[in-house]
Amino acid sequence: MKMKTDGHPGAGDSREAASPTVRDLLGSSSLPRLETQMLLQHVLGASRAWLIAHDTDPLDAAHVREFEALCARRLEGEPMAYLVGRREFMGHGFAVEPGVLIPRPETELLVETALGELARRGRDRPRVLDLGTGSGAIAISLALAQPDAEVVATDLSEAALGVARRNAQALGARVEFLPGSWFQALEGQRPFDLIVSNPPYIQDGDPHLARGDLRFEPAGALTDGADGLSALAHIAVQAPQWLAPGGGLWMEHGYDQAADVRRLLLEAGFGRVDSLRDLAGIERVSGGTLKDGPK
Ligand SMILES: C[S@@+](CC[C@H](N)C(=O)[O-])C[C@H]1O[C@@H](n2cnc3c(N)ncnc32)[C@H](O)[C@@H]1O
Repeated sequence: MKMKTDGHPGAGDSREAASPTVRDLLGSSSLPRLETQMLLQHVLGASRAWLIAHDTDPLDAAHVREFEALCARRLEGEPMAYLVGRREFMGHGFAVEPGVLIPRPETELLVETALGELARRGRDRPRVLDLGTGSGAIAISLALAQPDAEVVATDLSEAALGVARRNAQALGARVEFLPGSWFQALEGQRPFDLIVSNPPYIQDGDPHLARGDLRFEPAGALTDGADGLSALAHIAVQAPQWLAPGGGLWMEHGYDQAADVRRLLLEAGFGRVDSLRDLAGIERVSGGTLKDGPK
């Protein structure tokens, strides 16, 4: 087990004998049991098995204070991923922090769709672009699943790019990260076989922005500040200039935007336009292939 401090977390003198134990702390919070466990594991750098095996161990005051502070933040609604600094995506552990969107399970559909597209095309060393990479979840997962791919990822947010670069290094993924607004980041780049994006698509003023986890995530990652379709439309219109013949574009969008995104793709000259449903049965990802290439 990896401990944050040297030695036993509760080892100490007679004063520490009165310190709260693992069991006391787990029973002290009004949070759901699993969240309480995760926060204590994070504070101690301990596994769940260790907590169970050491439930009568006293804990030192610094750990108790840190745990209580995290519980208080969680009770205020702060997302677990920010409190523990991690979120699983496509089976990989991604570091996240305020300033970067927490990767969502539904976005795995976009990665799986992109991998299917790459397999269908069967090109060696395909060039793949992820626009608005955030934590790097999409780009890094693609690069890890298809190591011969040349993956480029962009973001307007320097904070996000910093997190994404660290994630790529920690996970051993080969991704080129470029700062800038959408396609402006790509000066000097060659065309791509596949472009993917999960852009901000929540309408300005949507009440969801003031609820739950979204309150704590960067507004620029969530909303386009307009009707929710402006970033999706911009990407659909500009993508053909950056795609090789027969190249594809796939984007994640909101639960009620599939028909609009299909229309945008058709207007931008894409064929084979389709929408795919997530595990909840919601049309979540739409895309198409440039008409003037191999079908
Ligand atoms: C919904 S988040 C997606 C993050 C990540 N791809 C994911 O799926 O978890 C949208 C991302 O687009 C970025 N973004 C917003 N406006 C942008 C722009 N004009 N150019 C490039 N990236 C932008 C945000 O900083 C944010 O990281």
